[in-house]
Amino acid sequence: MLSCSILILAIAPVIWALDNGLGKTPPMGWNSWNRYTCDINETVILNNAEAMKELGLLKLGYNYVIMDDCWSKRQRDPKTGRIVPDPEKFPNGIENMIEKIHNMGFNFGMYSSAGKYTCAGYPGSLGHEEIDAKMFAEWKIDYLKYDNCFNQGRSGSPLISYQRYEAMSDALNKTGHPIFYALCQWGEDQVWNWASTIANSWRVTGDIYDNFNRYDIRCPCETYDCPSLQGYHCSIMNIVNKATPLVQKAGPNSGWGDMDMLEVGNGGMSFDEYITHFTMWAILKSPMILGNDVSSMSREHLAIVSNPDVIAVNQDVGSAPANRMWKKHFVDGFVHLFSGSLSNGDWVVAVVNEATEPLLEMNIAFSDIFTDNHDNEKYTWVAKDLWTKETTTAARYLTANVVPHGTQVWRLQKSMHLSHNKNYWVSLDNAEYE
Ligand code: GLA
Repeated sequence: MLSCSILILAIAPVIWALDNGLGKTPPMGWNSWNRYTCDINETVILNNAEAMKELGLLKLGYNYVIMDDCWSKRQRDPKTGRIVPDPEKFPNGIENMIEKIHNMGFNFGMYSSAGKYTCAGYPGSLGHEEIDAKMFAEWKIDYLKYDNCFNQGRSGSPLISYQRYEAMSDALNKTGHPIFYALCQWGEDQVWNWASTIANSWRVTGDIYDNFNRYDIRCPCETYDCPSLQGYHCSIMNIVNKATPLVQKAGPNSGWGDMDMLEVGNGGMSFDEYITHFTMWAILKSPMILGNDVSSMSREHLAIVSNPDVIAVNQDVGSAPANRMWKKHFVDGFVHLFSGSLSNGDWVVAVVNEATEPLLEMNIAFSDIFTDNHDNEKYTWVAKDLWTKETTTAARYLTANVVPHGTQVWRLQKSMHLSHNKNYWVSLDNAEYE
C-alpha cells in the first residue's frame, strides 16, 4: 500500500506557472478598454494613473497600468518591420509615457494579438513574435495582454492554440526581461487545461458587459463547456456561472483564470450588483483590473474597489480560488454558496442572491461550508462580514441576510472547539437549516 502511494506521488503531474517569477497572486491594476475602447491617448493613460495614485489605489495593490488595443499605426514600419506607435495619440512617444508610469510607481502593460491583426484591426504579432517581444522588452513593459483575433484559423484544437501562444511566451522569455504574460483567449480550446506552463493568466470567458445577468445573444454560451462562440456582452452572472468550475485549474502554482476587466464605476449596475461583481472576482482569484475612468469615479464606487478585506482575500498568498458548494433556485433566480480556505487557516464564505426580490434570509450549515474538512464543523468561528465589517461568533451555521442581486461575504477565523462549550449544542439543537 505504502509503495503504491509513493508511486502515485511520483507520477502525479506537478503544474508550475510560466517560470518568470511573476503572478504569485492575481495581478491588480487598470486597463483602458472597458471605458475608452479605441479612444485612448497619452493623456487618458497618464490621467488615470495619476488618479489611481492620488486615490490610494496604487497603495492598495492596483499596480499595473495597462494600455489596450488601438495604440499603433495601421501598418508596420516597412523598413524595420516594427509596430509603430500612433504619433498623434502619443506625441511624446510611448517610451516617454512608460517612463512616467514607472516613475509614478506602477508597472506598465501593453497589448497585442496572436493574430494577423488585433481585434480592432491594428497589426498583430502572429509570425512577428520575436521582433515584437524584443521591442516590448526595450520599452521595459511589465505585462503583455495577448488577444485572439484574426488568428488565421490557427485555433479549434488545444494543441494548435497552445503552439500559437507558446511562440510569444518563448519570445518574451528570450528577452530576459520579466513580463507578466496574460492570455486573452476567451476560454476557447480549453485554455485552462494548457495555459499554466506558458502564461501567468488566461481569460476563461468572453468579453464582459456592464450588466448583472441580462441574456445577450452576442454571448451565446451559458455553460463552461459550450463549444460555440464565447462572444462578448457577457453579463457578470454569465461569467460567474461559466468561470466557477474553470478556475479550479488556477492557483498559486499555476496561474490565474481571468474573468475579464472590472466594470465597477462604469454605471451599468447598481451598488449591490457591483458588490457582487467585485466580491466574486476577488474570491475566485481573478485578476482585479479596473476598467473605468478612475479620475471621475464616485465615492461609492471607490469604496467598493478599495475594500482592503476583500482585496486581502484575492491577494492571499498561497490560496486557491473558492469553490461553489451549491446553487439553489430562489424566487426568480438562484442562491449560490461559495467557500474556500485561506493560507492562515481562515475561510472565506460568500452567499450570492440572484433574485430580484426579496431579502434572502437563510441559515448556511457548516456542513455545507466545510465539506472537505468536517472537523471544522466542531468549532465556533468568528465571522467578519467583509462589507458591513460586523463580527459575530457562529456555531454550526451562519445566518445570511442578502439583498436582491447582492452578496454577503465573511472571513471566518477559527475560535473554540464546541466540546469546550456544551451549551452550544443545547441552545442550537432546534436551529433550522435550509
Ligand atoms: C477583445 C478582448 C478585449 C479587448 C478588445 C480590444 O475583444 O477580449 O478585452 O482587448 O479585444 O479590441
